[in-house]
Amino acid sequence: MPALDESNPYAVFAAWMKEAEQSEPNDPNAVALATATPDGRPSVRMVLLKGIVDEPGPDGGFVFYTNMDSRKGNELKANSRAALCFHWKSLRRQVRVEGSVTIVSDAEADAYFNSRSRDSRIGAWASDQSRPLSGRMELERRVAQYAARFALGPVPRPPHWTGGRVIAESVEFWRDRPFRLHDRVVYEWDGVSWRTRRLFP
Ligand SMILES: Cc1cc2nc3c(=O)[nH]c(=O)nc-3n(C[C@H](O)[C@H](O)[C@H](O)COP(=O)(O)O)c2cc1C
Repeated sequence: MPALDESNPYAVFAAWMKEAEQSEPNDPNAVALATATPDGRPSVRMVLLKGIVDEPGPDGGFVFYTNMDSRKGNELKANSRAALCFHWKSLRRQVRVEGSVTIVSDAEADAYFNSRSRDSRIGAWASDQSRPLSGRMELERRVAQYAARFALGPVPRPPHWTGGRVIAESVEFWRDRPFRLHDRVVYEWDGVSWRTRRLFP
């Protein structure tokens, strides 16, 4: 097994995620995504991490998928700053990421969309994510409408459904230590390389 490159936060993250996949009861890739309006009103919700791009600076980041007409999507269109927080209870570990969100390429979004089940793809069309719903019936009616519309043909990706990549400017790893003297290591991208420093717990 190659040695862990501790100078690269994506490598450290991948190693922690691997451990979380073995110890978490479900959704080790669940992460809280915080966004904010341009005037600074924050909101936070869970999403699933669907990939990391282990490239330095603006080419790298943490990828999630969503409906860009949702509340989070609209906040990101107006203010691309975001933060992620993973918490793996089974490992007593936390990872925090801060940066700006860029939209993934159409080819990347299509590839991930097409890997999902047909029902999930129809669901992406049927759900007007974050907008008011009169009741379960309305959602079921929309699912039936889109299922009929696409019939046996392919289900294309809705234009508003895509991925966001949080380009990490900082990544903080926190691990539990006895007597609440936890370890905190922060990686910060300085435009050329990652710098690390420790913080008081
Ligand atoms: C464990 C978990 C994973 C979720 N994953 C996603 C996801 O990957 N993408 C997504 O759009 N919503 C996901 N959701 C739903 C969001 O938390 C949220 O309800 C939805 O995206 C609407 O958020 P918004 O109104 O702030 O945009 C997930 C919820 C949970 C509890």
